[in-house]
Amino acid sequence: MTKKNWYESKDHLEIKNNQLFIGGLNTTVLAKQFGTPLYVYNGNRIVENFQRLKTAFIQASLPNIRIHYAMKANFHPAILRLLNQQNAFLDCVSPNEVLLGLKAGFSSEKILFTGTSVSNDDLKILLKAKVLINIDSLSQLKRLKKLVKSNAGKVRISVRWNPGSFGAGLHDHTITAGKHVKFGIPEKQVLNAFKLAKIFGFQVVGLHEHIGSGWKGKDVQTFLKTVSKTLSMAEKAEKVLGYSLEFVDLGGGPGIPYSVSQDFFPIQEYAKGIALAFQNSKLTCSIAIEPGRYVVGDSGILLTTVNTVEQKGSLIAGVDSGFNCLIRPAFYGAFHEIVNCNQVNSKQKQKYMVAGNLCESSDFFNESKYQSRPIPGIQEGTVLALLCAGAYGYAMSSNYNLRARPAEVLIWNKKAKIITRKDSFKEIVKKFR
Ligand SMILES: Cc1ncc(COP(=O)(O)O)c(C=O)c1O
Repeated sequence: MTKKNWYESKDHLEIKNNQLFIGGLNTTVLAKQFGTPLYVYNGNRIVENFQRLKTAFIQASLPNIRIHYAMKANFHPAILRLLNQQNAFLDCVSPNEVLLGLKAGFSSEKILFTGTSVSNDDLKILLKAKVLINIDSLSQLKRLKKLVKSNAGKVRISVRWNPGSFGAGLHDHTITAGKHVKFGIPEKQVLNAFKLAKIFGFQVVGLHEHIGSGWKGKDVQTFLKTVSKTLSMAEKAEKVLGYSLEFVDLGGGPGIPYSVSQDFFPIQEYAKGIALAFQNSKLTCSIAIEPGRYVVGDSGILLTTVNTVEQKGSLIAGVDSGFNCLIRPAFYGAFHEIVNCNQVNSKQKQKYMVAGNLCESSDFFNESKYQSRPIPGIQEGTVLALLCAGAYGYAMSSNYNLRARPAEVLIWNKKAKIITRKDSFKEIVKKFR
């Protein structure tokens, strides 16, 4: 019996006759049917991930956890609708995310807006949408007061703080707490922010932290230190306000394995740690979290076809997508498993630089241009799958080089449906005057 590949899981990513299947469907057939480059998501896996998270909190005796899906990871309305059906709340980081969340069926009470460098125009849209506004700076708080004048009592806000030197993330650029960080109100000013918000007459209902994205197992302990610190700050904030908060939001961050060398995120340790810290506090409010990657990351793959195979400095497999489709390798040196969809486990491998079709020398899908990837059987026309591309994939895509953003397909109960068309030339250029 052949050993399973690390990413195989029942009813999600499976190998049958040496071919890669997702959600019960053959990836090579999907590539033929819908063309490449193509994002394919397994909706059943998204629901499974969400429910696994929820179950971990139920088992940790925190059944009323509020799970705000961080839609920045993947904002497709079809995915939002799936998560709305699971009773998810929503975490939005721009006014347009808020508007799309509402359009996808989330009620305004279930949406929390956490922005940075928020303009007055942004604030006007948020006020009209009646969503909860998470304050990121004193400047934002003061401008919000100017906009609402005597109506502050109708506006619900929370405060994002920076819990200090405890950032964590898979890359320096995904760490969002600590000294050299633009997010949140620093420790020294946070109680002052609560005082000011009270004087202004706002309904102040929550305290929020988000320390980074893409944690590995060891980051849980770092995170749990911030949880205790945040809960004790929430107790102090309640004293300032003179009433109880509705929630403390502990942000997103739980990671997923991208390669064989990374472990699955210890979700029980995470949930139990949060539950214990909460039980040890005097708080009676709800606890919220806002995961993005954990919910959608491993649900999606990017399919791409090999155009050219050529020995240059390295052996190059040139494909029909680029960092305009999936920027994580070029942006963060991120690792994505690359699989030959038709010959997954064939023994005869060669080492390739899997290179994109953009005119940029950083446009490749290996984690570095010095690390060629052993892949079996690549020829012109071979379909490759980049795994774990469901989060921060399409969401970060662009029309750089005037290349089209890829199409997207969602599988639900073994049926594939196109949910986004590939851009046409007309669509790409239609805004130009
Ligand atoms: C405020 C906020 N919440 C939640 C998230 C989601 O993070 P992740 O996808 O790592 O769970 C992010 C992402 O950076 C964020 O900025």
